[in-house]
Amino acid sequence: MRVLVTQDLDPAGLDILRAAGCTVDLRVGDGPIARDELLERVRGCVGLLPMLTERVDAQVLDAGPLRAVSTYSVGTNHIDLDACRARGVAVSHTPGLLTDATADLAWTLLLAAARHVVPADRYMRQGRFKGWHPTLFRGMELRGRTLGIVGWGRIGQATAARAAGFGMDVIHHSRRSGVPLAELLERSDVVSLHCPLTDATRGLLGTDELAAMKPGSVLVNTARGPVVDEAALVHALTEGPLGAAGLDVFEREPVVHAGLLELDNVVLLPHLGSATVRARRSMAELAAGDLVAALTGQPQRHPVG
Ligand code: DGY
Repeated sequence: MRVLVTQDLDPAGLDILRAAGCTVDLRVGDGPIARDELLERVRGCVGLLPMLTERVDAQVLDAGPLRAVSTYSVGTNHIDLDACRARGVAVSHTPGLLTDATADLAWTLLLAAARHVVPADRYMRQGRFKGWHPTLFRGMELRGRTLGIVGWGRIGQATAARAAGFGMDVIHHSRRSGVPLAELLERSDVVSLHCPLTDATRGLLGTDELAAMKPGSVLVNTARGPVVDEAALVHALTEGPLGAAGLDVFEREPVVHAGLLELDNVVLLPHLGSATVRARRSMAELAAGDLVAALTGQPQRHPVG
């Protein structure tokens, strides 16, 4: 059973693959695997363990030809699930294990954006601190404010649960429950995005939606970049109504809109949602285990579709 792992993986995952008798082609590199290299290396493989950065479409599936794809991510928007279904390719993902890591990071961004942590840090390093000042970097106090969660899955709910410690009220919007999106945007002091990227959520927050947010409000995105129109976001952060934003994901990742790079009221992170040692190790074990399960005819723990 030849399998391709497209990025450096925690050894715990590699051990599972090798113990099951897989021949592992482990590609190690600084960034995502190039498309040509992916198509070349997947040839002769029955299993693929990709990252969220690889587009897994019919061409990749047929190049194997693959029997199973087990993605090292909870998001599956990079996988053509219809093409997998049509070919009988088993797909699995890694939900649950990165819930706390991602919810923690949403709060990291929320607090950093609300309290100007990044520009204040820069100010210190530039030697500009001349002593305590009553109006220096005043931010938003959270108690009594409203946190609006868009997407009410595991991560959205874990992010909401953390709000109790800060004395915030929580409202949410999802396909199945909560308040309408327009009401959430109008009422929330902080909006945190936790929905998957689908046809329905692509561009969910565009010019009109951002314009409807509260003056001085904060937007946090740890979901997927294309949920927000970045050009409209730059406008809303420059002209209002937004006060600040914290972004872990980008519309054309890894490219960041040039306008965002110029703004002091945005905190930018390189897609670190699940980047804790514990989460990444558990994800490696789960993804590897489910790949082996699919290839050996056992039930997968987290099948998709
Ligand atoms: C995922 O697994 O989909 C996350 O975006 C990884 O950080």
